Amino acid sequence: MSIPIAVKFWLLVLIPASMALVIQQDQSTLLTACQAIAKAISPASQVFYPPSTPYESDILHWAVSSSASSACSVEPGTAADVGVILRTVASSRTPFAVKGGGHTTNPGFSSTSGVEISMTRFSHVFVNAAARTVNVGAGLTWDQVYTALNHTGVNVVGGRVPAVGVAGVTLGGGYSWKSNQYGLTVDNIEAYELVLPNGTVMTVTDAQEDLWFGLRGGFNNFGIVTTFTFKSHPQTAVWAGVLEVSVEHLDEFNTALAGYAAQADEKAAMIAGYESTANSTAIAALMFYDAPTPPSGLFDGLMAMPTLGGAVQTTTFSEYVSSLSSAVGSGGSRALYSCAPVLRYTPTLLTAIANETAALAQQLGALDPTVTVTTVAEPFQAGLFSHGAPSAYPPDRARALLPTNPYITWTNASLDSVMHDALWGLTERIQAAAIAEGQDVAGAAMYPNYAPYDTPLEMLYGANVPRLRALREKYDPTDVMGLTGGFKL
Ligand SMILES: Cc1cc2nc3c(=O)[nH]c(=O)nc-3n(C[C@H](O)[C@H](O)[C@H](O)COP(=O)(O)OP(=O)(O)OC[C@H]3O[C@@H](n4cnc5c(N)ncnc54)[C@H](O)[C@@H]3O)c2cc1C
Ligand SMILES: *[C@@H]1O[C@H](CO)[C@@H](O)[C@H](O)[C@H]1NC(C)=O
Ligand SMILES: *[C@@H]1O[C@H](CO)[C@@H](O)[C@H](O)[C@H]1NC(C)=O
Ligand SMILES: *[C@@H]1O[C@H](CO)[C@@H](O)[C@H](O)[C@H]1NC(C)=O
Ligand SMILES: *[C@@H]1O[C@H](CO)[C@@H](O)[C@H](O)[C@H]1NC(C)=O
Ligand SMILES: *[C@@H]1O[C@H](CO)[C@@H](O)[C@H](O)[C@H]1NC(C)=O
Repeated sequence: MSIPIAVKFWLLVLIPASMALVIQQDQSTLLTACQAIAKAISPASQVFYPPSTPYESDILHWAVSSSASSACSVEPGTAADVGVILRTVASSRTPFAVKGGGHTTNPGFSSTSGVEISMTRFSHVFVNAAARTVNVGAGLTWDQVYTALNHTGVNVVGGRVPAVGVAGVTLGGGYSWKSNQYGLTVDNIEAYELVLPNGTVMTVTDAQEDLWFGLRGGFNNFGIVTTFTFKSHPQTAVWAGVLEVSVEHLDEFNTALAGYAAQADEKAAMIAGYESTANSTAIAALMFYDAPTPPSGLFDGLMAMPTLGGAVQTTTFSEYVSSLSSAVGSGGSRALYSCAPVLRYTPTLLTAIANETAALAQQLGALDPTVTVTTVAEPFQAGLFSHGAPSAYPPDRARALLPTNPYITWTNASLDSVMHDALWGLTERIQAAAIAEGQDVAGAAMYPNYAPYDTPLEMLYGANVPRLRALREKYDPTDVMGLTGGFKL
């Protein structure tokens, strides 16, 4: 793998995550492992082979480029069986993957040629009104959770669009419609049920100081989580919707968006995307206010824009999230995500972002006419990281980082490395534009749930890396979790 220039620019220590997985096993060895699992698990769990329907759904990913054909899939139905599966793959050193919602765009992070562990049977939502918590299975997607909570009057702090998984979002950080009020998803957890790499099932709360720290951002490095217990918050009707604006109004849009981004009403949230193909750009703002009507003034600049479509209205939280599938697309192409953290969005920075996004789409569209290049601005507020205790991510809570999200979708598999390098280039140019206007973001932490697979660990976890490595060594001395992909400690 070639190291893109943009990475060299930031590089302190390079640990390409995908190279951690240099385990090769032939198909018959893998099938033997599948059979060993099938024999060892209880009737609550099941192993599937291609081309069965459960197998196909177990290996399905949002992006084709992060899907793989595994030798088999297994759907554990109990935490004890997750332990049995981990002990089985550990003893035969069989490569495996753990999948929640399958939304990572990083190849090998939740896909494998070995054993795909699909968490789909962990699908309960239990509300504990007295404790003000909601217990959620690790196989659910966020829209399923919100639908289950639709009439309960409570909600949790989770993902913003349909189909994205509870597990990955929660284990990597979690930027939510409610994060200005309550922080990241990792700041709204009461407990985890965790199956350690040696197969032991345990409950992790803030009493287990080290695992509590590591699990809040450390993904699958410490084992497999089966359930999350989230803090709940009251949920009323919301005012929310999508605004689509014509590119001829780009400057006005950027001025209005920067105006919105400068205010500090914690109930407000927004993400705004510039999506370009070779010869077109679409602009959309996904707007949210956590009450039936917003205060006057807050969204006026954007609401006054001539729009192409979309509607912003009083609705339920679950209706709003479910409605966003068309705004974010349903996946199905090749894709890669990245992150350019910034401190604030000015009209100048937004203009540079839109410009760079469109220019790259034009360039890449000549190679593959199906290319889209999108950059999403995420104008969170200054207090974003003030709602939680130290965690693996973010490594520094002294100031908020707004996780600007550039990503590319394409079709031609021969162009994977071209797209990867181009995405790092776009990431670097966005960050350079922020630095050029005085933002101190050189070396700022990238959000692990958006970062490309070859992002150095220091760019995700900063000064936390040595502590996380020691923790991994303590809880996984035989490197069982090294048999699966991800940002490996
Ligand atoms: C369309 C789209 C919308 C998005 N929206 C948001 C958003 O609103 N907010 C936000 O913060 N991020 C968002 N993201 C990014 C998202 O956080 C990541 O893609 C995340 O990893 C997806 O979680 P998943 O469960 O679907 O992923 P998966 O691909 O299933 O898993 C991701 C990683 O988590 C590990 N993992 C999964 N389950 C477990 C488990 N039970 N135990 C241990 N490890 C596990 C996997 O092994 C893998 O390494 C979005 C991404 C996409 C593509
Ligand atoms: C949520 O409840 C509302 C109001 O009763 C209903 O109209 C809607 O269909 C429900 N939405 C979902 C996604 O369950
Ligand atoms: C945007 O792109 C145009 C044409 O490529 C260029 O002239 C202009 O300077 C760019 N503006 C910004 C803010 O980058
Ligand atoms: C550009 O736009 C036209 C229609 O406006 C479309 O037919 C064409 O496929 C688009 N894409 C490219 C890469 O030219
Ligand atoms: C895919 O990209 C490769 C490399 O640029 C090119 O040779 C090939 O023709 C492309 N395939 C298609 C179907 O466009
Ligand atoms: C598994 O690991 C944990 C934590 O290191 C340890 O407490 C436990 O005794 C181990 N269990 C077994 C069966 O080895």
